[in-house]
This record gives sequence, structure tokens and C-alpha cells, in this order.
Amino acid sequence: MAVSAALVIGPMRMADVAAVLEIERLSFSSPWPAFAFEQELTANRLAHYRVARLADGVVAFGGIWLMVDEAHITTFGVHPDHRRQGIGRRLLLQLAEVALELGSSRMTLEVRVSNEAAQRLYHSFGFNITGRRVAYYSDDGEDALVMTTPDLAGPAMQAVLAAEQARASENGLG
Ligand SMILES: CC(C)(COP(=O)(O)OP(=O)(O)OC[C@H]1O[C@@H](n2cnc3c(N)ncnc32)[C@H](O)[C@@H]1OP(=O)(O)O)[C@@H](O)C(=O)NCCC(=O)NCCS
Repeated sequence: MAVSAALVIGPMRMADVAAVLEIERLSFSSPWPAFAFEQELTANRLAHYRVARLADGVVAFGGIWLMVDEAHITTFGVHPDHRRQGIGRRLLLQLAEVALELGSSRMTLEVRVSNEAAQRLYHSFGFNITGRRVAYYSDDGEDALVMTTPDLAGPAMQAVLAAEQARASENGLG
């Protein structure tokens, strides 16, 4: 299902933190506190955060840390009222474009083993399972899967990114 209003993606600002915290609270069992985002936006030179907005405000957010040549997705979420509309895909595409621009050769992340929705998104975006971190989540001891893309500039990921760009345009999320 396509969203009806224009989606605009841009850098996360301090003024966005309250809306981002609300999406975090609705999405994660251990949401980040406000100061964590404030630190990321003001003090962490490796951090690059983006938000996606519709007319009524921020509906999704995500960020990467640039670790040498690897872009590590630190957090990523879509407001529950706006899921299954392609916004997660569109924002992930944006993060991949930022990662490429910054010279990353691949993207990586951790995801809960129980989080099948996110794993499906990442699989369809070219990520593969490359590891498992036992008892990674401190709130309940759940394991994390490590998922990593092939070379972002290589043919496989370039084909994924081109397909995602075409899909975003078709859905009016261009
Ligand atoms: C995971 C999440 C970011 C997906 O965002 P979204 O905007 O709903 O995703 P999209 O609409 O772009 O869907 C992309 C793909 O993800 C998969 N997907 C998303 N939600 C799904 C669900 N509930 N069940 C199964 N697959 C799902 C599908 O493969 C989907 O592609 P399709 O619509 O062509 O079938 C969102 O569910 C979310 O914010 N979850 C809570 C936070 C979270 O888990 N973040 C990731 C932490 S690693």
C-alpha cells in the first residue's frame, strides 16, 4: 500500500528527538533515552541519523555509525500507525545511499532472533546472516543475529538498490 502524502527524508535534528523517542517507546522493549540521541546528534562524529516525515510529523527514523569502511545500523524504526507502507524500505535505501556516499563498503546490524518482520526487510534488501551474538539483549537475554550486506558498490547490491529506487518511485516514495 502506498502512502498518500509526500514522504520527506532528511537529517535528524534535536527538534525531532521527542517524536523519535515516542516511536522508540512504541517499538522497542528497551528504548534509548533522550540523552543518547542528543549525544549522537551533537558529539558523535561517526553518527549519521535520518528521519522520514509526512505532513503530520516524523514517522520513521534510523541511524548509522561509520566504522572504518562499515556502516553499522544503530537503530531503525517506523511508527506503528505507518508500517507496511514501504516507509521502512525507503528509509533503509536512504541509509544505504548515505553509507555509500561516506565510502562504506557494506552495511551491518544486529536484530533480535524473534524479529521476523525486520529480518524479512533486511533479507529482501540484500543482507545475509553473518553471525549470532548470544544473550546480546540485556533486558531479556535474547540472542541477536548479525546481518551484513555484500559490497555496496558491487553488482548484487547495486541491483538491490536500483530495484528499491524503482519500487520507491512506483509507490510515490521516490
Ligand atoms: C521492521 C520495520 C522497521 C519495518 O518497517 P515498515 O515500514 O513496516 O516496512 P515496509 O513497509 O517497508 O516493509 C518492508 C518489508 O519488510 C517485511 N515486513 C515488514 N513488516 C512485516 C511484518 N509485520 N511481517 C512480515 N514481514 C514484514 C516485508 O518483507 C516487507 O516487504 P513487503 O511489504 O513487500 O512484503 C517496522 O516493523 C518497525 O519499526 N518495527 C519495530 C522496530 C524494529 O524492529 N526495528 C528494527 C530493529 S533491528
